[in-house]
Amino acid sequence: MKAVAVTPGQPESVHLADLPKPSVTDMPDGRGVLVRVLKVGVDATDREINEAKYGAPPPGYQFLVLGHESFGVVEEVGPAVRHVKPGDYVTATVRRPGGSIYDQIGTSDMTSEETYYERGINLLHGFLTEYYVDDAEFIVRMPDGLKHLHVLAEPMSCATKAVQQAYEVQRRLRVWRPQIAYVMGAGQIGLLTTLVLRLRGLEVYTLARGEPPSLKAELVEAMGAHYISTKQVPLDELPGRVGKADLIIDATGSSAVAFGSMQLLGHNGVLVWTSVTGGRQHVEVPSDKVNLDWVLGNKLLLGSVNANREHFEMGIKDMALGEVTYPGVIERILTTPVDGLESYEQMMRALVDDQSALKVYVNVADG
Ligand code: BGC
Ligand code: ZN
Repeated sequence: MKAVAVTPGQPESVHLADLPKPSVTDMPDGRGVLVRVLKVGVDATDREINEAKYGAPPPGYQFLVLGHESFGVVEEVGPAVRHVKPGDYVTATVRRPGGSIYDQIGTSDMTSEETYYERGINLLHGFLTEYYVDDAEFIVRMPDGLKHLHVLAEPMSCATKAVQQAYEVQRRLRVWRPQIAYVMGAGQIGLLTTLVLRLRGLEVYTLARGEPPSLKAELVEAMGAHYISTKQVPLDELPGRVGKADLIIDATGSSAVAFGSMQLLGHNGVLVWTSVTGGRQHVEVPSDKVNLDWVLGNKLLLGSVNANREHFEMGIKDMALGEVTYPGVIERILTTPVDGLESYEQMMRALVDDQSALKVYVNVADG
């Protein structure tokens, strides 16, 4: 069967590869789930893997099959599988366990090991192919009523985790009632994070470079948040205008913005970094000032990567709530479909060049 792959270490190597069709019996103990892939989303991670910034093939392979944002339909299950059946729509988590205690309790997103295993990213083939098989543990059911949001389940899980982690660590305060949040960046993670925070009742300011009108600005406003163009409002003026943030989530892909955000956070606040930055940017920071503010303000910096099964399930619930709260808004993120695995070049071009694309995804099969 066909698969879209890269040769890690070799820039611009995206190509079509061939793999044998997997079978449920590839998984031990009757726990296999065979999924027919319907759609796969791609993002900056896939672009950077194709630029050879990171990414590794599975042992014994020269190539790595791309794709970590999956949506498909169950074709067959092993005898020990209970929670899904043939015909169900599903997505799959991305990380697979290593050896640490966190891996063993179902939280491989929190592995304490240096090596991490991610389908389509590091050491494991991804989902940009016709079928895949995985252990039931990693297959997450999507309700039929959310099938139109398909590949957003994975980015949503990352947004949900970032917010959930912030609330989790803020238990240090015994009482935390955040009111103002800044979301840095209005790409897919920025927009989905905006949604999660709006659903929790926060006043949200979502910042991006572009000046309105734009689709990004429209979506932000449609979720009852405020879109701020950093061309119109310099970052350092924002706290003075709207109040300091109790919570900031950075999803810009720019480490300069991630560090810059440290100067915008209010007392007792938490700043969450979610961007995977594969480049080599260096920035100067007023470190004495930031250090002083952070100590005197009991502020917290938190990194958040990936998501486990629980975050997928929470994210799917938030998508359902999002659908009834802001009907028809979430699907507008799904801007840029590409038809068929053969269109991998068009897919990469859309990722690299199409500034108006919020979400590029491949229609792999009908269903
Ligand atoms: C993926 C995450 C992954 C991260 C780091 C992101 O694009 O959505 O699941 O953990 O990249 O590889
Ligand atoms: Zn991703």
